[in-house]
Amino acid sequence: MKEDLKNPHPGLETVVQGLAQASEHASCLVKGPLDPCILVIMGASGDLTTRKLVPALFNLFMNKGLPKPFLVAGCGRTPLDDPAFREHIGAGRDFGDPRAWTEFAAAFHYVQVDYDSEASIRSLADRLAELDARHHTGGNRIFYLATPPSLYQTLADLLGRVGLGAQGRGGRPFTRIVIEKPFSHDLETAVQLNRILARGFEESQIFRIDHYVAKETVQNILVFRFANAIFEPIWDRRFIDYVSITAAETLGVEHRAGYYEQAGVLRDMFQNHMLQLLAMCAMEPPARFEPDRVRDEKVKAFRSLRPFPADRLDDHLVLGQYGSGKMNDRPVQAYREEPGVDPGSIVPTFAMMRVFIDNWRWQGVPFYLTSGKRLPGKLTQIAIRFKRVPHSMFRHVLTETVPANVLTLGIQPEETIRLTFQTKNPGAEVCLRTVRLEFDYLKDYDGPVLDAYEKALLDCMQGDQMLFWRQDGVEACWSFIMPVIEACEQCQDPGRRLRVYPAGTWGPPGAETLLPDTALWRT
Ligand code: BG6
Repeated sequence: MKEDLKNPHPGLETVVQGLAQASEHASCLVKGPLDPCILVIMGASGDLTTRKLVPALFNLFMNKGLPKPFLVAGCGRTPLDDPAFREHIGAGRDFGDPRAWTEFAAAFHYVQVDYDSEASIRSLADRLAELDARHHTGGNRIFYLATPPSLYQTLADLLGRVGLGAQGRGGRPFTRIVIEKPFSHDLETAVQLNRILARGFEESQIFRIDHYVAKETVQNILVFRFANAIFEPIWDRRFIDYVSITAAETLGVEHRAGYYEQAGVLRDMFQNHMLQLLAMCAMEPPARFEPDRVRDEKVKAFRSLRPFPADRLDDHLVLGQYGSGKMNDRPVQAYREEPGVDPGSIVPTFAMMRVFIDNWRWQGVPFYLTSGKRLPGKLTQIAIRFKRVPHSMFRHVLTETVPANVLTLGIQPEETIRLTFQTKNPGAEVCLRTVRLEFDYLKDYDGPVLDAYEKALLDCMQGDQMLFWRQDGVEACWSFIMPVIEACEQCQDPGRRLRVYPAGTWGPPGAETLLPDTALWRT
């Protein structure tokens, strides 16, 4: 897909506009001076590097959010020299300020690496030592695995074997390793990957990224819940009827069929992003805002998820796959016709599930999780539907029932918090009018805005693991989701459950009957 050259990176304009105020807001950007370091990107000629990492680093650079000195050692199989690598990462993009770009790109170096060879990783270690000595980066390193997940085990193993992980044990100089979701294919392979990672790295060195958790509005959920006294007392089964968490996308599978055919929506979105959103909304207040205290509470929420009733899946789960249809009046092809997809594929691109959390706070409150591709709008939100008034004194004068209050935490594209409530319509008669109290997250704020990758990279450089998955959380979520996946994949007729929905519609018909109020997951 052609990149938008004017705005190659969402948020860039905002950040560049906010540049004048950068120093003023610096205290909100970084907690203190950052230690110099080398960011070693494995998979440096790939899509993730050029689409996400380089723009995120550039924005940090523009906002004085990078350490000094700071280097990138890009690793890849393709033979390239430093100037060719610098050209590659900037190709086809306009970063708005050529002088700044040149200065930024000078920090990028290239190391050709054969990912299967211990000798090659040893020579990488030598090159890093040489760069450290020449640029005074103090031996601090972050290894970012931006490769296909199939290489994680091999790379973690080799980095550990040549001792690159052990160098960072004890914290100084630091060595950290970053891996992206998906954290393996199932519980067994997740445990296996962790065993390999643990041979070379301690848990405090491992940063498992989930870019959803690093979104500003997702981080704001904890502040909203726990920095205000008025919401927490009503945040439970006594006042909340149900919760609907939605991540709707307009995009199809794009060029990722190889991965998606193995993953489907349950592994791609539910095992990670959707369950993280659920945990932010359902977890108990941690005693302190510290990485492990917060992650402890999330893990407790994951462990309280009621096991999915595998024998009554249809009562709790709707699966769909997009067929051909229209998006913005343009015809789009069906999932099965996308390049690289098996024409008989039964991989779901849409799921809606009803889950329960078995604890005192949430007993009996359904959480509806919905995510799908090729839906009519991009929308990520958490809608909390409160119970209706217990008794309506207006029942003699109103024909309709009094609607329930709904609190909506808009994650994207609308970054809002919205509460609906009832008022009287002006006039002689008593008629209800539902109105909204709304807060727009970015309104009246003119400082730099960090997107999810900027925030994740910054936190990793600061050694703050708050927004990263801990292994017990990864395993708890696989334990929850695997029985659902297995029940779907291993039944006698796995395709039976899958309902095709035309691209550009709000998913298959069954979704309307599972969720009580479809307006809560549609724009
Ligand atoms: C990724 C999934 O993790 O998240 C993609 O692999 C999905 O399939 C993407 O499109 C959605 O992210 P966002 O931030 O655009 O909602």
